[in-house]
Amino acid sequence: MKYAIVGTGGRHQMFRNAVTETHAETAELVALCDVNQSRLALSASKVPNRGGNGIATYLAEDFDRMLTEQDPDTVIVTTPDYLHDEYIVRSLRAGRNVMTEKPMTTDLARLKRIMDAQRETGKKVTVTFNYRYSPARTQLKEILMSGTIGEITAIDFRWYLDRVHGADYFRRWHRYKDKSGGLLVHKSTHHFDLLNWWAASTPVSVSATGKRDFYTPEMAIKLGLEGHGPRCHTCPVAHKCAFRMDLEADEPLKQLYLDTEKDDGYWRDKCVFADDITIEDTMQVQARYASGTSLNYTLVAYSPWEGLEVKFHGTKGELTHKHIEVHGVFAGGNRERGGDEEVEAMTTELHLAGGLPQKLDVWTGKGSHGGADPIMLGYLFNPDGMPEDQYGRASDQVAGAWSILTGIAANKSIAENGARVEIAQMLAEAGITL
Ligand SMILES: NC(=O)c1ccc[n+]([C@@H]2O[C@H](COP(=O)([O-])OP(=O)(O)OC[C@H]3O[C@@H](n4cnc5c(N)ncnc54)[C@H](O)[C@@H]3O)[C@@H](O)[C@H]2O)c1
Repeated sequence: MKYAIVGTGGRHQMFRNAVTETHAETAELVALCDVNQSRLALSASKVPNRGGNGIATYLAEDFDRMLTEQDPDTVIVTTPDYLHDEYIVRSLRAGRNVMTEKPMTTDLARLKRIMDAQRETGKKVTVTFNYRYSPARTQLKEILMSGTIGEITAIDFRWYLDRVHGADYFRRWHRYKDKSGGLLVHKSTHHFDLLNWWAASTPVSVSATGKRDFYTPEMAIKLGLEGHGPRCHTCPVAHKCAFRMDLEADEPLKQLYLDTEKDDGYWRDKCVFADDITIEDTMQVQARYASGTSLNYTLVAYSPWEGLEVKFHGTKGELTHKHIEVHGVFAGGNRERGGDEEVEAMTTELHLAGGLPQKLDVWTGKGSHGGADPIMLGYLFNPDGMPEDQYGRASDQVAGAWSILTGIAANKSIAENGARVEIAQMLAEAGITL
């Protein structure tokens, strides 16, 4: 199978390496595409064993020519979120399959374009929800599927982003709601996808609150950072800022962003306390599912630790999972937290009515995102070499749509002072059929 990748930033490296190294026997990378010529050249230079002129690279304006000349079966989309729809739709209409990073897209107008194009072309869209593949989350699916806790009546789900990872969403394109959908779409797409998959259901109605309490100009003053600049690289108070991102000191980040910014002016290290940020850092959502399950959800982006807590309430008992997930999030690892070493703690507890709580042996795996990425890449690029997936982890455009609809409805609810949003009505008004 032949693949092309559009968007050669941080995330594409995982797909490029999977296609050109780990799964090179079943996959072939035929081209790379980006707006930034230097980032393209950097990525092409990392592709091993390419003779001749190496890997073909195309600027974004030549995307359609790339499809014609290089004839990929599948286009892998790893651009910023608000551009996914453009490349998904153009690829589908050119007769290609698509693998897209999450979130599939950011708003209803873009979602409609994707659903229409997929329906009209019949081509395949895969949304790469790596979290489903992490062994500990798959184990929860296994327990829930087995009916051990009975009907799932309610779920409490909390995700905490720490001040390294959480802050990173406030440095670049993610920090603008029109480019990422805000964290309730950009980040929570993972969580709402897990919840839809775990509960084997889809959301019906949503209400939410959201605010920005921490990454604010006022907080910069409280932290003694008066006179800060627009970015860390040239900031006069960077030496006393705990949120500094030092691109110069981190070779992979320097190569990928600082050395390439002359081409497109993309600053990787904008100040997290700037006043032009338009996303929230503190969000709470309540939702009701078609199955009758109700959900309480919290996402905070400035916690002292990173991870999740989820509790499933069932008619026969409770299932509780906590994952303290502290890992390097930057390309070069995170020195403050001890390189790329993962310092994790996971617990899963089953408490059936009438019995004592039981601590379960948590399923684990090796590799990024708690062992999820290598398993997902196996299913994506060498499905015949993998065991049959009894958990239904592959995600198409419909699962991609459901995973963003809770967040899109939550954004609407926040804009309407917490009003309850009915998803069927929202979809009907946007002319979307799933
Ligand atoms: N599943 C996960 O765990 C995970 C983790 C990280 C990122 N992601 C997703 O991957 C995607 C990329 O994130 P990233 O961190 O690599 O971002 P990034 O900003 O590092 O990379 C984006 C790339 O897209 C390029 N680009 C910008 N405009 C373009 C255009 N018009 N046409 C073509 N290319 C263009 C940029 O030059 C850059 O090279 C996002 O959708 C993000 O949500 C997913």
